[in-house]
Amino acid sequence: MSYQVPVKKVLISEEEINKRVKELAKQISTDYAGKTPLLVCILRGASLFFSDLIKNLKIDCNLDFMCLSSYQGTNSSGKVRLLLDIRDDIRDKDVIVVEDIVDTGITGVYLRDLLGARKPASLEFCTLLDKPQNRKVEITPKYLGFSIENEFVIGYGLDYNELYRNLPFVGVFDETKK
Ligand code: IMP
Repeated sequence: MSYQVPVKKVLISEEEINKRVKELAKQISTDYAGKTPLLVCILRGASLFFSDLIKNLKIDCNLDFMCLSSYQGTNSSGKVRLLLDIRDDIRDKDVIVVEDIVDTGITGVYLRDLLGARKPASLEFCTLLDKPQNRKVEITPKYLGFSIENEFVIGYGLDYNELYRNLPFVGVFDETKK
């Protein structure tokens, strides 16, 4: 059985991801020592990154989930829709939002405004990937896995029309092979 995936190249291998996720978890564990941060997974893209990250944390933490949507194919609509909100009150809590990728930054700024208004003790962003060249609004994640070029990528949670999230690596999408 052969399974063809539409990638031009593997951009970040499974091994590189595992190594970097462990480093990020170590950094967060050090920064939040003695605290119990709430980690918020932004569905669906951050799901794989989130579960690997939390497995490697060496501190107590709480978990919650939000679901947002803004993309159709390889284009952002620029409009963020909140499909699922977190369950608990975050007032006075240390919150870390875990995203798959920061691209235009519109989703991040939306989340910063929405969650910031709920008066957490602190609010930081952790993203696996960053495409700084495509930024339309200012946001700088404190924790960053990899900075990448302005190319559409799939795998390790990231999709093209809801496919390829299950790939264990991040690859550059090849529209001609889909
Ligand atoms: P932003 O609001 O433009 O920063 O985009 C955030 C969301 O767009 C991410 O959470 C992804 O769901 C999606 N996105 C942006 N770039 C890519 C990509 O290269 N591949 C897959 N999804 C992407």
